[in-house]
Amino acid sequence: MRRSDMAGPRRTARPVKETLLSVKAGIRIHPTAIIEAGVEIGAGTAVWDGVHVRGPARIGTQCIIGEKTYIAYGVSVGNCVKINASVYVCTGVTIADHVMIAAGVIFANDRYPRAFTDGMDGLAESGPTADTLATTVHEGATIGAGATIGAGIEVGAFAMVGMGAVVVKDVPAHGLVYGNPGRLRGFVCVCGHPLRGLPQVVQNGRSGSCSRCDRMYSVIEHGAAAYPFFTGVRDVRKPLRPR
Ligand SMILES: CC(C)(COP(=O)(O)OP(=O)(O)OC[C@H]1O[C@@H](n2cnc3c(N)ncnc32)[C@H](O)[C@@H]1OP(=O)(O)O)[C@@H](O)C(=O)NCCC(=O)NCCS
Ligand SMILES: [Zn+2]
Repeated sequence: MRRSDMAGPRRTARPVKETLLSVKAGIRIHPTAIIEAGVEIGAGTAVWDGVHVRGPARIGTQCIIGEKTYIAYGVSVGNCVKINASVYVCTGVTIADHVMIAAGVIFANDRYPRAFTDGMDGLAESGPTADTLATTVHEGATIGAGATIGAGIEVGAFAMVGMGAVVVKDVPAHGLVYGNPGRLRGFVCVCGHPLRGLPQVVQNGRSGSCSRCDRMYSVIEHGAAAYPFFTGVRDVRKPLRPR
């Protein structure tokens, strides 16, 4: 046996890069992660320690899956998605490109769950049933730390869900939602910062601009929802509202 094959203190002396993640086809997976058969992972994605991904599931390119996160079977994660530590992603959830899910977020997929099936012995079916509701987090949205996302929810594109929110209703595109129950409190820009001039009740004809960058928005109505629609970049040489 070569000395380098022996377990012992010499192993800990290996460079951090080698010991933390094994790299295969541009995908970095921590040795303690459990990736089941049928899981597809795109190039450039990193999966950290203690992560468990049930198969089949799909994780896109250039994602980060933070430590101790659980991803159930059937879940689809887009490209360039950042999932922080200890996130619970259940069956029925679809996460689009450029989404951020902060630490400790929990998704739920059954509104009236039971451990048993009424009138039958043993445990209820663990796989999806008629009660399993689909949730989608659309492109560019952020879910803040410790938030809980209820069953069958649509979180609109570029929406922002605050820390600890309990989301029980759909969030419109660019919507800012926080509290328990989560309520619409305003709107945010693509960059994540609040839009001035657009409080939570938006009507056609209103417009607003970002509190941080120069993007401008007008409100459009789509079915029951109204939300800001990017209209262009403010000319920074001119004041926002003519005096
Ligand atoms: C929701 C959020 C975007 C609001 O930011 P904001 O618009 O700057 O809000 P403010 O800090 O000005 O607070 C406005 C009011 O909402 C309250 N508030 C802010 N965030 C809240 C939250 N998550 N839940 C409940 N109330 C909240 C404030 O107490 C304040 O109340 P008041 O007017 O009665 O004093 C932000 O607080 C948040 O939760 N961001 C997510 C952070 C996160 O999870 N990061 C994880 C990666 S590090
Ligand atoms: Zn902005």
